[in-house]
This record gives sequence, C-alpha cells and structure tokens, in this order.
Amino acid sequence: MKVDHLTGNNIITAKKAKNALKEMLMEFLAEKRQVVVLTDTNTKIHCLPVLHRMTENILTKTPVITIPSGEQFKTLETAAFVFKELAALNIQRNGILINLGGGVITDLGGFVASTYKRGIDTIHIPTTLMGMADAAIGGKTAVDIESIKNLTGTFYIPRAVYIFPEFLKTLPDREILQAHAEVLKYGFIHSPQLLEVLPVNPENFEHMISLCLSIKQEITETDPLEKGVRKLLNFGHTVGHAFESLALSRQQSLLHGEAIASGMACELFLSHKLTGLNKKELDNYIKTRFIHFPKLYIGTEDYPLLMQFMSNDKKNMNDQIMFTLVQSPGNAVYNMSVSQEDVVECFDYYRSVSN
Ligand SMILES: NC(=O)c1ccc[n+]([C@@H]2O[C@H](COP(=O)([O-])OP(=O)(O)OC[C@H]3O[C@@H](n4cnc5c(N)ncnc54)[C@H](O)[C@@H]3O)[C@@H](O)[C@H]2O)c1
Repeated sequence: MKVDHLTGNNIITAKKAKNALKEMLMEFLAEKRQVVVLTDTNTKIHCLPVLHRMTENILTKTPVITIPSGEQFKTLETAAFVFKELAALNIQRNGILINLGGGVITDLGGFVASTYKRGIDTIHIPTTLMGMADAAIGGKTAVDIESIKNLTGTFYIPRAVYIFPEFLKTLPDREILQAHAEVLKYGFIHSPQLLEVLPVNPENFEHMISLCLSIKQEITETDPLEKGVRKLLNFGHTVGHAFESLALSRQQSLLHGEAIASGMACELFLSHKLTGLNKKELDNYIKTRFIHFPKLYIGTEDYPLLMQFMSNDKKNMNDQIMFTLVQSPGNAVYNMSVSQEDVVECFDYYRSVSN
C-alpha cells in the first residue's frame, strides 16, 4: 500500500496487526529492501524480544540502532548519531526504519526517516500508552533544541502504525499514569466520557486507545498541517511544554504527560476566565484529576523563563501567544490570544493549587 507522507494515517490495531506487520515485512525482505530497527535502551530489553516473537523471528538478522532513553535525548545530537549509524549500515533510499518505542522514539525516528537521504519509509510500533493513544498518530516528528520542546521537526506520515497493547505489560506505572493526561485532553476537547479514565484501570486500555486514536485520526486527517482544527490537540500544551522545557533546563524529572496535566490546570483556569468554562468544572479537574499527577515547583522567579519558552510555541501568531481553550467539556476553541497579565495570573493560580 502506498501512503502519502503528508496525509492519510495507516493505523493497524491489535487483532489484525500481527499478520499485517509480518506480511509487510516479508514484502520488504522479498524486495531486498534494508530494514533497520530503532530502539532506546529500555525498549531494546523489553520490547525487541516481543517484536521478534510476534514476527516469528524474521527480523533477528536486522540491524538495531539503540539510543539512550528519555526526553533529554530527543535532540539533534541523537538524531545525528542515528543518521551516522544509518550511513554506516549503508542504508539506501528504499530502506525502512522501524521505530520501536514511545513518543521519543517515534518523534525522533520519524524526524530522522523524514530527512535521511531526503526521506525513507518508516513504520511506528508504539510501546507506551502515550505512543499508542497519541504520539505515534498524525505524523508530527520533532527534536528538542536547548530544552525548547519540538523546536525542529517535520510532518511525515509513516507507512504504517501497528498498535500492540501487549507491550504495555512492562511499562512502569508512572509512564502509564502520565499518558492519562493526554487522554483527559481528548475528553476536554472532544469526548467528555474520556474525563472518567482516572483512577487508572488496565481493563480500559484497549477501548481508551481506540477512542483516542480515532479522535486524533479524524482531526489530523482533516487538518494534517495544523492550519486550523488540529490546534485543538494542543490544549494544555502551550503552558505544558513551557513547564516541560523548564524541567529539562533544570535537569529535573518531569514526564511529558505530567507537564501537560499541569498545563491543563493553567489553561482551564484561563478557560474559566476567558471562554466561560464553569468554575465547577475547573474545581472538579483540580480536585479529582490533577491530584493524581506529580507537580513541578515554580516560583515567581521562573515566570520570565516560562514566558520565553512560550514565545517559541508554534501556535503563536504576530508575536501573540495563542491558546486552545475550553468552553465546556468536549467543546474547545483555538487561536485564542491571551494577554501576558492573564498568563501570569494562571501561573499564580497554578502555584496556589499545586504547592
Ligand atoms: N508527535 C506527536 O504527536 C506527539 C504527541 C504526544 C507526545 N509526543 C512526544 O512523545 C514524547 C513522550 O512519549 P512517551 O511518554 O512515550 O516517552 P518515551 O518514549 O520517553 O517512553 C517513556 C519511557 O518508557 C520506556 N519504555 C517504552 N516502552 C516501554 C515498554 N513497553 N516497557 C518498558 N519501558 C518502556 C522508555 O524507554 C522511556 O524510558 C514526548 O517527547 C512528547 O513530546 C509527541
């Protein structure tokens, strides 16, 4: 199947995934195309053996490139390492890069695939809940530069995304929980039933993944290049990415979803102030969802740096920081310009509910 690298997601879920993946790999091998697997240090240990078992060992002779795990390695330097490894393996333009990992691997591997020799085919096999419900879908690739989240990247749809929830068996609890922040985001912008996902319940994972990925698929296929409606998916991310960048710059541990949970607290406050979100909904989020996530300590001395990080947000227009805000659960609006005073007020609010 030919997939356009800007539009059209080819997502294959559990029941059909094993056979479909095996068939696609057999096709590549029959065509003598070179296949390479990208893992991080954890997915090499926990997920590569599972992939070999699922594909009946047809990939055991395939070269594997491994990078250190963690957001701090989603950088141009790591991408350069992968480019060099691909070149050392003499991977040609018809080669295929399989990204086996969480959002860091699919963002970075997707970026490498989209630019190596001006673009080679790529397949995502997400191994985290964050990856299955969100990061591997929609074709955004990125690396961070000097702690600025996703400063450089491309839109590049993989040949296919294969979803195997069985990878989640080895995923640590903290990683499972943080992914629930993105699921709550889908609840606020699209489907309020997803606001009921906490406390964590593994029995719900498959249903939750399938709901989230169908929402993301619908939105990203309508607006692949984020000119309009796709901006809804950034709810919680304008402030959340600034928090994540602050933590990265301080070398402090804060997972992406944890930053987004805090970002949503701030942006729900702005939603209450500016787009009419009911105070009850704001309080309800803080009391029943936000409490589950670790918080980042911020003081007033951090505000200038947070503002600076937000000035790099990709939704900004004409030097204005633009937000996606919620009017009521399931109903959100994008391109909302927010004054610096209101942003400072949302930081003050965050400190009052988190410290
Ligand atoms: N492109 C997008 O649309 C999009 C959307 C959301 C998030 N993201 C990005 O995704 C990243 C976060 O993704 P993530 O939370 O998956 O992070 P991650 O890739 O760092 O994975 C989290 C941790 O789990 C480990 N791991 C992965 N799978 C495992 C498994 N099955 N068993 C045991 N350990 C495993 C990893 O090694 C890592 O330590 C961020 O960089 C974020 O910006 C991108």
